Amino acid sequence: MKVGALKEIKSGEARVSLTPDSAAQLQKLGHECFVQSGAGVAAGFNDATYEGAGVTVVADAQALVDAVDIVIKVREPEEAEVTRLRAGQTLISFFWPAQNEAMLEAAKDTGATVIAMDMVPRISRAQKMDALSSMANIAGYRAVIEAGNNFGRFFTGQVTAAGKIPPARVLIVGAGVAGLAAIGTSTSLGAITMAFDVRPEVSEQIESMGAEFVFLEFDEPAQDGAATGGYAAPSSPEFREKQLAKFRELAPTTDIVITTALIPGRPAPKLWTEDMVKMMKPGSVIIDLAAEKGGNCDLTVMDERVVTENGVIIVGYTDFPSRMATQSSTLYATNIRHMLTDLTPEKDGVVNHNMEDDVIRGATVTHAGEITFPPPPPKVAAIAAKPKEKVKELTPEEKRANEVAAFKAQTKQQVTLIAVAAVLLLAVGLVAPASFMQHFIVFVLSVFIGFQVIWNVAHSLHTPLMAVTNAISSIVILGALIQIGSSSLLITVLAAAGIFMASINIFGGFLVTRRMLAMFQKS
Ligand code: NAI
Repeated sequence: MKVGALKEIKSGEARVSLTPDSAAQLQKLGHECFVQSGAGVAAGFNDATYEGAGVTVVADAQALVDAVDIVIKVREPEEAEVTRLRAGQTLISFFWPAQNEAMLEAAKDTGATVIAMDMVPRISRAQKMDALSSMANIAGYRAVIEAGNNFGRFFTGQVTAAGKIPPARVLIVGAGVAGLAAIGTSTSLGAITMAFDVRPEVSEQIESMGAEFVFLEFDEPAQDGAATGGYAAPSSPEFREKQLAKFRELAPTTDIVITTALIPGRPAPKLWTEDMVKMMKPGSVIIDLAAEKGGNCDLTVMDERVVTENGVIIVGYTDFPSRMATQSSTLYATNIRHMLTDLTPEKDGVVNHNMEDDVIRGATVTHAGEITFPPPPPKVAAIAAKPKEKVKELTPEEKRANEVAAFKAQTKQQVTLIAVAAVLLLAVGLVAPASFMQHFIVFVLSVFIGFQVIWNVAHSLHTPLMAVTNAISSIVILGALIQIGSSSLLITVLAAAGIFMASINIFGGFLVTRRMLAMFQKS
């Protein structure tokens, strides 16, 4: 089929839905690729590059839509773009059907099929098509870069001849896709990063990325934002109050706040209130990624950078992915390419719009002259983690009692073992010769010490430990050195071979250990 990418008409939009690389992949699926002239220029792909990849460049939008079977673009289409479509044609782009009813009607009237990239269900199999996630990832990264651009200090702490510089303290609110990308970027720049989310299951991800999870002291079982379909659910008023109280406590010491909290289909929750902004130090920065949905901060102005009276900078841009157009176009074009791969199962250039397929069904909002939005819930479970099993919280007294009991049991076990060993040793000593006993006691003690030493080494370090013990075991070299001066040629040769082999063991062991330890070191 013929697939054609339109030039975006929204002013300032720099992304494009087809790149020369994605075109090459689409051609392998048996599709022919077209692009509107100039569509990729703002993203760094000029017409000549497309032509080089075998893409036909078409002069204007009308000619492109007339020439192709599948129209692809980035932003939700405007009226002029929808009315150009014809029956049997397919449009793949962001669409936001819930907020775009009029456009949905218009698309239905044309008889065209519309696949909304924002409706791709968040299930494992569809991750490669999840354009919302790929754009949110870029937005999270860019939010930190934007914050750095507005912040007057380093992210990382430094001790210089000119004085000591404390590290920046960054708080990320909402650890979804954008939030996690922001955490990764912020920690890699060296800032002290804290993150909060209503979904407790993300705490491990947050901590594994080097940030600190902000816990709320709460009587209820855990942070409460039960997940549905890969997204959070609204939290209770008590929970919200606790959350705001915690943020109030953090506001005076936080330099940068990046808010990404969102529950799909709802206005963004107000989490960074005016009084918190007032508590922040002058020069602090707030990047509100949820600006498009009303903002998580009370004072955010959509698409603007405002500076408050107390000198706090609040950025409410909604076009972060477009500000990194080359990267975002590459990822978006890949998402589209994967969608087309699923639509072309035989790789023969023939589209099979299988409405039984969860992903295709979920993303299709108009088909065969009908509005097919909202879709039925996907048959497979969302990626969202299962709620953790509720573990009974112990009181401090119970915890202490448990610890004392465990200590007593351990001591008892050790005393019994020592007593049994002493009796056995005595029994052996009664019958065995004195010279044997001397060696035997040394053997028993070395086994005991060796066991104690290895037992106390962290599991992750066992492999390097083994490598080093391997090297140490080459103590046999001493025996070989003693024997090498023997008058017998055979013994000398054997001793020389032994020294050679043991040397490999020693140097190899230490070399491997060094390499392994290097893997644990931060560069
Ligand atoms: P997501 O759904 O993956 O993450 C949102 C996170 O917010 C979830 O982890 C959720 O548990 C959390 N959350 C919800 N309510 C909360 C609350 N009351 N307190 C704390 N956390 C809460 O969404 P994703 O994809 O990470 O997007 C985040 C935001 O970034 C969205 O608002 C999206 O529209 C926006 N975005 C903005 C862009 C821009 O250029 N400004 C570009 C792309 C996305």
